[in-house]
Amino acid sequence: MPELTSSDSFIVEVKESKRQKEVGILLEKIRKLATSNAEEVVALRHHFHTFPERSWEEVETSKKVVDVLKGLGCTILKTGFGGTESGVVAELKGGKPGGCVALRADMDALPLQEENAVPYASQTPCVMHACGHDAHTAMLLGAAKILAEIRDELPGTVRFLFQPAEESGLRSGAKAMLDEGALDGVDSIGGLHVWSLAPTGTVLYRSGPVMAAADAWYLTIKGKGGHGSSPENAVDPTITAANLVLNLQAIVGREVSARETAVVSTGVVKAGETVFNIIPDSVTMNGTVRTFNPAVQDTLEAAIRRVIAGLCAAGRCEFELDYRRNLPATINDHAVTMTAKSVCEAMMGAENVKETELIMGSEDFSYFERKVPGTFFFLGTGNPEKGTNNPHHHPKFNVDDDALPAGAALLAGFAWARLTGEVRG
Ligand code: NI
Repeated sequence: MPELTSSDSFIVEVKESKRQKEVGILLEKIRKLATSNAEEVVALRHHFHTFPERSWEEVETSKKVVDVLKGLGCTILKTGFGGTESGVVAELKGGKPGGCVALRADMDALPLQEENAVPYASQTPCVMHACGHDAHTAMLLGAAKILAEIRDELPGTVRFLFQPAEESGLRSGAKAMLDEGALDGVDSIGGLHVWSLAPTGTVLYRSGPVMAAADAWYLTIKGKGGHGSSPENAVDPTITAANLVLNLQAIVGREVSARETAVVSTGVVKAGETVFNIIPDSVTMNGTVRTFNPAVQDTLEAAIRRVIAGLCAAGRCEFELDYRRNLPATINDHAVTMTAKSVCEAMMGAENVKETELIMGSEDFSYFERKVPGTFFFLGTGNPEKGTNNPHHHPKFNVDDDALPAGAALLAGFAWARLTGEVRG
């Protein structure tokens, strides 16, 4: 390629600055549409909050989502996943040819009694949107409305994933959607989570690993019960359990590099009943393991199995171990994350967009990112004056409604940017 003369490079510069201006104008248009749709998105969030549904039971939520999407001219591709009536996949085709980008919202609530005194409080006893998935569903519908309004300018297709059962742990809604083809034909994916620990008006992003893999282990140590006065005639599983609680902690300290991040926690230890002088037959123990690096995950599983087998043998106990890899780590693609970051900076101001620390919680969005490059980012919704800064899964968790238009705009802006390839960061 010949070198550019100064006049050629001047033309390129002018063209680029003209294009940048056009990009800025379109992102501004998306932001304005989000502001004018704000009331509708807030009303949708309140509706979903009032009528929460637990994992795999999001039937009425799914029906409402379908109604709204149909009204926007979206094509419904599939409803019902995992043999249930929960979950919706829909598409909006743009006015120009191009690729396909997916946006995802999870829809499920938690088994928790709401303690917020708000007009839109949950009407279902012991079921509550305490993680903000009501806001996710409403914001993605808001994004769909914005994108429908700029449909003619969209080069390609936006796929909307309204996912059941993010909270279900063992039976992931994301995995079910993936297995049933929800991402077939998709080039990249974006999703966001409201974040009460960050202030309203801010966004957190991270390239690479961002949320941990969550493994769980369930152990039964079998000894031989007996009288507490004569332990020599019994095989005491409590001693082995006590040794295990301490020795499991040594694994992270001694077998994992200090440069890696990992946690092993014992959550349940049950030995004996209420009688003081009986050595129990068996002890049950459960725990969790959090990692970001799949190699560290392998090391920890192998070490935990070895330490359990070794200590049980030393204590003359038998054991049954069920070790489950519940969720993989959420690992964000660099290029897709940089697109999201640039869109966030353009819409929220660079000073309000920050890199997050590693988050030890987990997210089944990770399954989608194993299939296509994607990014998962966090929208600040914490506002102490409104009391929306309680932790997630708390009975007084709530979302600052003022953050919702920005969330809808960021999702729509991200989809537009991925399709046009204009904003690369
Ligand atoms: Ni959540």
